[in-house]
Amino acid sequence: QDKRESLYVLSAWAGKYFKEQLWTTEVGQSIGLSYFKERGYREEIIKKFDLGYSPDQWTIMSDAAVAAGFHKDYLKEIGLSIERDDGSIYDRFRGRVMFPIHNLTGRIIGYGGRTLKTEKSVPKYVNSPESEIYHKSDVLYGLNFAKKAIMDKDTCYLVEGYADVISMHQAGVENVVSSSGTSLTTGQIRLIARFTKNVVILYDGDAAGIKASLRGTDMLLEEGLNVKVLLFPDGNDPDSYVQKYGSTAFKDYIDKHQEDFIFYKTSILLKDTGGDPIKRAEVIRDVVQSIALIPDEIKVSVFIQQCSRLLDIEERVLLTELNKMRLQKA
Ligand code: CTP
Ligand code: MN
Ligand code: MN
Ligand code: MN
Ligand code: MN
Repeated sequence: QDKRESLYVLSAWAGKYFKEQLWTTEVGQSIGLSYFKERGYREEIIKKFDLGYSPDQWTIMSDAAVAAGFHKDYLKEIGLSIERDDGSIYDRFRGRVMFPIHNLTGRIIGYGGRTLKTEKSVPKYVNSPESEIYHKSDVLYGLNFAKKAIMDKDTCYLVEGYADVISMHQAGVENVVSSSGTSLTTGQIRLIARFTKNVVILYDGDAAGIKASLRGTDMLLEEGLNVKVLLFPDGNDPDSYVQKYGSTAFKDYIDKHQEDFIFYKTSILLKDTGGDPIKRAEVIRDVVQSIALIPDEIKVSVFIQQCSRLLDIEERVLLTELNKMRLQKA
């Protein structure tokens, strides 16, 4: 299709523009490039991920795009520019370091732009909107760089953020993708399932990360994937952990602390019950409900067995509950 192709071309043009700003302008270097370097990114990785910088001006990118022959409507369509009431346009990304989002074939389809400011009032990330070439529910950040490693290792690490993907690559762990802070969709899960059935969720060690690790996971189970979970200590995320402690310590940590999702969920939920029998009953139901989603009968019986021990309740009771839930679903 003509229009789609034009949008891809514009997207790639913008990618090149932001890169040039980062590498060849004085502000780009002193603000953007030095920011990445302070975060511990080496030049090879900055280049590999096509990272860039958007100048802190209102229309500089839009003006350059129009001057290069791109139509205003297309700039609006992929959200690089935003239209004002008077019909003029301005840049969506201003004064941000740019993380291009690639599709599976490596073409740029959108951007995440991170602010360099620390004020809470400024949103940390501004992202491209949905467009004809960017269907967010079918995209995982980093998959184009990760797919080979995912197949080789037969495992996919799932992280929350752009920076986590990049730091892990730099540490030599390349089988990693990010859901970019949103809950997983079935489309994204099927995308992973094309390459492996084994997913390890490495979410941030903060409250939001723990919550997110319990959400969206049911869908992974339903799709028949084996799900493990690991949280980082003291509010770290994969990026901050690897930058703080180094890649050897990082790999060591993720090898040692992976836990099967069902057991992880059971222990997290059990912690909150404080021995209250009603709450305990709720936890038991909640856990059985997750087990009930697993399509593989052998796995189901293994989980029932082990959870019966963890929850200190007879297998028979869990099985009865499981069958009841299945009947309700059918
Ligand atoms: N996110 C977003 N908009 C925000 C905050 C977060 O789109 N205002 C998305 C981004 O994709 C981000 C991810 O959610 O990468 C995870 O959020 P968070 O953990 O807060 O950010 P980090 O990726 O850790 O960012 P950084 O390390 O640069 O601070
Ligand atoms: Mn869509
Ligand atoms: Mn977080
Ligand atoms: Mn994070
Ligand atoms: Mn982070």
